[in-house]
Amino acid sequence: MWRRVFVVLLPIFGLCSEDWNRMAKEMLTSAIKMKPNTGVAKNVILFIGDGLGVSTLNAARIYRGQKNNKTGEETVLEWEKFPYAAFSKIYGADKQIPDSAQTATAILGGVKVNYKTVGVTDAVPGEGCDKLLELGEAGKVISVLRKALSEGKSTGVVTSTRLTHATPAATYAHSAHRNWESDVDVIDEARGKCHDIAYQLIHNNSDIQVLLGGGRRAFYPANYSDPETGRTDVNKRNDTNNLVDDWLNIQREKNRKHKFVWKKDDFDNIDVNNVDYVLGLFSPSHMAYEIERDKTGNGEPSLSEMTSKAINILKRNKDKGFFLLVEGGLIDIAHHDSLAKKALEETLQFEEAVKVAASMTNQEDTLLIVTADHSHPFSLAGYTKRGNPVLGLVDEESARIEPPLDKKPYTALVYGNGPGYKADRENLTGVDTAADNYIQQSAVPLEYETHSAEDVGIFSQGPMSHLFHGVHEQHYIAHVIQYAACIGDYRENCDREERSTSGSTVPEVLRWLLLASFLASRIET
Ligand SMILES: *[C@@H]1O[C@H](CO)[C@@H](O)[C@H](O)[C@H]1NC(C)=O
Ligand SMILES: *[C@@H]1O[C@H](CO)[C@@H](O)[C@H](O)[C@H]1NC(C)=O
Ligand SMILES: *[C@@H]1O[C@H](CO)[C@@H](O)[C@H](O)[C@H]1NC(C)=O
Ligand SMILES: *[C@@H]1O[C@H](CO)[C@@H](O)[C@H](O)[C@H]1NC(C)=O
Ligand SMILES: *[C@@H]1O[C@H](CO)[C@@H](O)[C@H](O)[C@H]1NC(C)=O
Ligand SMILES: [Zn+2]
Repeated sequence: MWRRVFVVLLPIFGLCSEDWNRMAKEMLTSAIKMKPNTGVAKNVILFIGDGLGVSTLNAARIYRGQKNNKTGEETVLEWEKFPYAAFSKIYGADKQIPDSAQTATAILGGVKVNYKTVGVTDAVPGEGCDKLLELGEAGKVISVLRKALSEGKSTGVVTSTRLTHATPAATYAHSAHRNWESDVDVIDEARGKCHDIAYQLIHNNSDIQVLLGGGRRAFYPANYSDPETGRTDVNKRNDTNNLVDDWLNIQREKNRKHKFVWKKDDFDNIDVNNVDYVLGLFSPSHMAYEIERDKTGNGEPSLSEMTSKAINILKRNKDKGFFLLVEGGLIDIAHHDSLAKKALEETLQFEEAVKVAASMTNQEDTLLIVTADHSHPFSLAGYTKRGNPVLGLVDEESARIEPPLDKKPYTALVYGNGPGYKADRENLTGVDTAADNYIQQSAVPLEYETHSAEDVGIFSQGPMSHLFHGVHEQHYIAHVIQYAACIGDYRENCDREERSTSGSTVPEVLRWLLLASFLASRIET
């Protein structure tokens, strides 16, 4: 794979100038030879790391290296091997610092919208059910997933949060508020007028082939016993709808091969060649953090396992291809609680999912995009020395460069705001700051840490990935996806003719393969 061209040789501690120069020259050689792939994207996989800002990417890279007993900084994460990268400006129509519903709508719908709204235009204010009803279709933002569906592509949504949560909801729902996940969550003025998000998923999106995540409680009636725990107090619906049964009935009536699963062994047993529609709801609310996940048959699949299953089902649409959204949703949840270790572990599981997708698809016809919806006030700071444990304290020697005025040691990872604030900063000597549930310190006391304003990354490979090339508005991403795949707004307007003739040709691929094997042979020695 010529993807490997972008793998820098892994430097160990103590490289000499000759090694640094050689490393850079190899990168330059491959950069000079880069040729954009202008073909049509048959498949598109969009990865959204919720809250996966650049500072988190950076810390996760070091963390992964250190888990392998390396210094860490030199680690190459999967998306760093992609040929193109860009910045994304994440502000919303009404917010300098946005929430995940409005950013997901921008990424998937191609326009900026208002705080906490999902799949509706900026003419609809938060909780503006009446405005949405008044505007009708004109108030709705149609996602790239729905546009892909209209072209006959197979589609799927995979997330580690509730399937009704902000990011996945932006693929299929039109709601004036992201919190309206079940009927009891809809505000009184809107109840009975604007449908909740779970209802919309089942009753207006039964053509989505793969739906995998958490959030059963919005699908089952209150007092209905939960299939996993038997508890009757977790489910939420008051309208007596059993949306799982509704989904099963809809698929049965359409004579489709379908399966509903709620635990890992049933998920593992899905025969991807014999099932076309899958609904997986693996927990009442969000799924478990990867480091706490029950990996037994009664437990939950991982994000990468769900991604692999989804691709295996979707790629059977050999004629038209597919669109898949994969959300690493717990990175954000961990950051809000200032649990840095969990945020980094979730980032590595998200990377695992990207790795799986890259290995299961062909970059000649599959556009892979890895991005985030927004960042967090999370920082790795303190002139730390090379290889300093990323979850540890700033090493004593480095701390002396700019000594803490309170004379107490400090962690290199800190939050700008959040639950880790204490008026009298804790003395961290002897504290296990690498514990799973250690809460990093912050400057401002908040119950939940917030999002932040910084630009986030867009990493891409595959057809038209070079259109991510600079500093972009976040909602540009949906336009590139449509243009690359010749769907939606760009169906008749994607220069299809020129692209099919000037797109990557076989000799071009061979050239890359030759270059790759040449470089690989040099790197491995
Ligand atoms: C890293 O080193 C420790 C201690 O020597 C060892 O127990 C562990 O297995 C090593 N991990 C890896 C991934 O090599
Ligand atoms: C639940 O349903 C009952 C009966 O229809 C209704 O009176 C009540 O207002 C509903 N409550 C909520 C919170 O939806
Ligand atoms: C169903 O979804 C489509 C596409 O997102 C949308 O145009 C339509 O208005 C939705 N219908 C209902 C009843 O929500
Ligand atoms: C659930 O059970 C409680 C206690 O029996 C009852 O008061 C309530 O009305 C029930 N809710 C629904 C939606 O059936
Ligand atoms: C922090 O705790 C250590 C160990 O108890 C102690 O030696 C040190 O003086 C403390 N520092 C401050 C500033 O309290
Ligand atoms: Zn968030």
